[in-house]
Amino acid sequence: METVLESNKEYTLEGERLKIFTFPSPILKKKAKEVDVFDEELQELVKNMLYTMYLSPGIGLAAPQIGLSKRIFVIDTQYKRNKKINAEGNEEIEYSHFSPMVFINPVLETYGEIINWEEGCLSVPGVYEEVKRKEFVKVRYQDIHGKPQVIEAKELLSICIQHENDHLDGIIFIEKLSLIKRNLVTKKFLKKKKS
Ligand code: CO
Repeated sequence: METVLESNKEYTLEGERLKIFTFPSPILKKKAKEVDVFDEELQELVKNMLYTMYLSPGIGLAAPQIGLSKRIFVIDTQYKRNKKINAEGNEEIEYSHFSPMVFINPVLETYGEIINWEEGCLSVPGVYEEVKRKEFVKVRYQDIHGKPQVIEAKELLSICIQHENDHLDGIIFIEKLSLIKRNLVTKKFLKKKKS
């Protein structure tokens, strides 16, 4: 069966836009469960997760963020997004350079120096803070067909993988800040969310 993620097939932006759960939703605190069925339903889910990520727009999205407690996340740190005016004079978003990645049941090994990187999250919109993470990551995971894979990553992709993997363990990036910073950011975010 063909999927949107066959390497010989170009990705097409299509799917259903899913609701993103925001902090402090309880689903974001849960430890997600392993995926053991690799069927069409999973393919559909991944397609919709990618679609939701691109439209939001974000560079990563984990299943708990769409209310599903499963060990799945999608990433694309490469795509380009440009606003343009179409023939009718309306604003249109033009996407290019898609490079979707799907990680199922990932297991991470981080190594290297500790680095600071500014992060954001679709579940904590409007908040951008520097987080300390390891420089490199080696990930063992399963692809959409359940086939074991392994990759090593650095820079933005490494940070993104670590951030998304935290979601599978019920951890949001603001929890990695110092207690003072974390309280400040949380208070500010909740106040803004209420208003
Ligand atoms: Co996030």
